[in-house]
Amino acid sequence: FSSLSKIYFFSCVRFIFYIFRHIKIAHLNQFISYPPNSSVIGVIGEGVVLPCYVVAENIPEIFSVQWIFNEQSQKIPVSTYDGKTQKEKQDEKYQGRTEFFHSEFGAGNMSLLLKNIRSSDKGSYTCVVSFNDEYHDALIELKVAASVNVSIGLTCHADGWFPKPEVIWLDGQGQVRKEQSSTKVMMMPSGLYRVITSMNLKPGSDMEVSCRIVNNLLKTTSESRILISGE
Ligand SMILES: *[C@@H]1O[C@H](CO)[C@@H](O)[C@H](O)[C@H]1NC(C)=O
Repeated sequence: FSSLSKIYFFSCVRFIFYIFRHIKIAHLNQFISYPPNSSVIGVIGEGVVLPCYVVAENIPEIFSVQWIFNEQSQKIPVSTYDGKTQKEKQDEKYQGRTEFFHSEFGAGNMSLLLKNIRSSDKGSYTCVVSFNDEYHDALIELKVAASVNVSIGLTCHADGWFPKPEVIWLDGQGQVRKEQSSTKVMMMPSGLYRVITSMNLKPGSDMEVSCRIVNNLLKTTSESRILISGE
């Protein structure tokens, strides 16, 4: 080669490599599928599925998937599944809190279940899937929120009982309620008993509540019923 044709030859080679690299990247982009800039919202104390799907003709049995948490300065390997050993590894911070859906791997579903969400879990996660010496990755943003636990506190008082009465909380159908209640029975100076019982009513439960006090000796009862409506 003359020096000119050498330059020509090498720029041709460079050009071919350039084309090849871009074809390869375009080809990779068809492999992993996720809504661009996708984000999911998790609630503190609950679980969330971080989505990651691979679209491929067939996914070989030997593949690996790794979820990485991108902290400012470091990358935390949240959870890794290695198809060779079929073993899973978790970072300390995520110990016992992540799960892959093994039965869904074959369908390209590499999503990760993150349980018992903490506020520190908020941030960006990368799903890296590798097989046939190729890497495919997707970025998912996890937003974290706390839901306020609203409940209605109910208290029921009854005075002048003897002997110690029995206290029962009932629902609209007259069935014993499943909520925990706390009951205090006190002896008054008169020698009779005073009963104070309370319980918390969560939204979504039966909103008809009754408090029944029973004198088991006289087989008499006293009942107070309340219906809570609306939000
Ligand atoms: C992936 O698997 C999880 C768990 O079974 C499921 O919730 C999710 O919908 C699946 N995604 C797809 C696209 O099948």
